[in-house]
Amino acid sequence: MRPKIDVKDIFVRILVQFIFPLAGLAILFSVLPQWEVREHWIILFIYAGLTVVCSFAPVITFNTKLTLNNAVILSGILLYGTWLGVWSAFIETMILAVLFRSALERVLFNVGQILLTVWLVSGVNQLFMTLGVPWMVSDMLLIGIYLLANPTLAAVGIHHFMKYPFLEVLVGMLKSSAFLYLLLMAIGDIGARLIQYAGFWAIIPLVVTFFLIRTVFRQYHQSLGEIEGKVEEVKQLNNSFLIAMAASIDARDPYTHGHSYRVAYFGREIAKAIGLPKQQVDEVYFGGILHDIGKIGIEDGILNKNGKLTEEEYAKIKQHPVIGYQILLQAGVFPELLPAIRWHHERMDGLGYPDGLTGEQIPLMARILAISDAFDAMVSDRPYRKGMPVEVALERIEKALGTQFDTELASQFIKLVREIPEDELQRIIHTTGHESIMKEE
Ligand SMILES: [Fe+2]
Repeated sequence: MRPKIDVKDIFVRILVQFIFPLAGLAILFSVLPQWEVREHWIILFIYAGLTVVCSFAPVITFNTKLTLNNAVILSGILLYGTWLGVWSAFIETMILAVLFRSALERVLFNVGQILLTVWLVSGVNQLFMTLGVPWMVSDMLLIGIYLLANPTLAAVGIHHFMKYPFLEVLVGMLKSSAFLYLLLMAIGDIGARLIQYAGFWAIIPLVVTFFLIRTVFRQYHQSLGEIEGKVEEVKQLNNSFLIAMAASIDARDPYTHGHSYRVAYFGREIAKAIGLPKQQVDEVYFGGILHDIGKIGIEDGILNKNGKLTEEEYAKIKQHPVIGYQILLQAGVFPELLPAIRWHHERMDGLGYPDGLTGEQIPLMARILAISDAFDAMVSDRPYRKGMPVEVALERIEKALGTQFDTELASQFIKLVREIPEDELQRIIHTTGHESIMKEE
């Protein structure tokens, strides 16, 4: 079979490997006529030095990290024209490339990318000057152009080198850093105008302001990190609490020891197999851990009875989903787990309990746990009977597809159980504690 030719990929490759570097080179040489040797070396030296220093003094917020480089370059364009923006950006990119030992292909792209941005902004600036647009207006527009051009061109490179979707990268960059970017560019712009109208030393209060802003962001970032740590601690505590609850539920009935863990474990495997996000996978797990919490409200005599239950006793047992639901509802904790507790005995055909829900009326979490609950009940040993072989249990589930169980979910479950090696499956089925199952994570 002939390999498929992706036209878009070829276009991006040409753009990144040829157009960007060639454009960069052309821009670099096109500004040479503006060069005035006597005064320009020192200015270029200061600007290139400043951009490199700025690369090592980023402003960090909770989800992004930006430097003043582009702001410095913008001020260079405004004060001295295109040549300074172009050459300081070029020298900075080259110095960083040497320091970080970047690959040649990336360096060429970076040079092209930044020089194209500078050239575009400078060109528009000159147009504004020719048209006589007041600088207060044109500066703001230039910052806007910088903000759009820089990430758009950078996103082309990220798409090419890292294979991330172009639009996703661009929107992500703008969403996370547009305002910080605008703030830093505004600092560069104000700096340029201060120097222009009040002399070079007017830059001092601005530099102080920048470092204060940076410190405020850093403090904010640090305290955010501390809060995140605390949230993680509380989460761990919650999880430990849930595990302890499961142990106390299972302890009521020594013969079904470990049932909650196993239901949770297989529920989580189904959730992972159908591609649920991590948070929902965790919810299914903890829903499984707590699903039978209502059994706390059922008397021992019924719960631990060895023989067949009378109709009245069975009716009482059937109350455990609602009892559990009420316990959690009144306590006002783990609201996200309520569906697992109330509806794990519902059936797709509406013959389950307590509410006789049908099909997709039953929340996904409960449909998943109904399968792992039934499976564990069938394969685990009881004092009055041995657990049935796994294959027999799976066949029973297969027979109840669409009536008792969600066809899609149960099919996934059957498939995933059949893929677990026999000795591993036996270990899981006979596990009695959270830790031994978690070892597999
Ligand atoms: Fe139950």
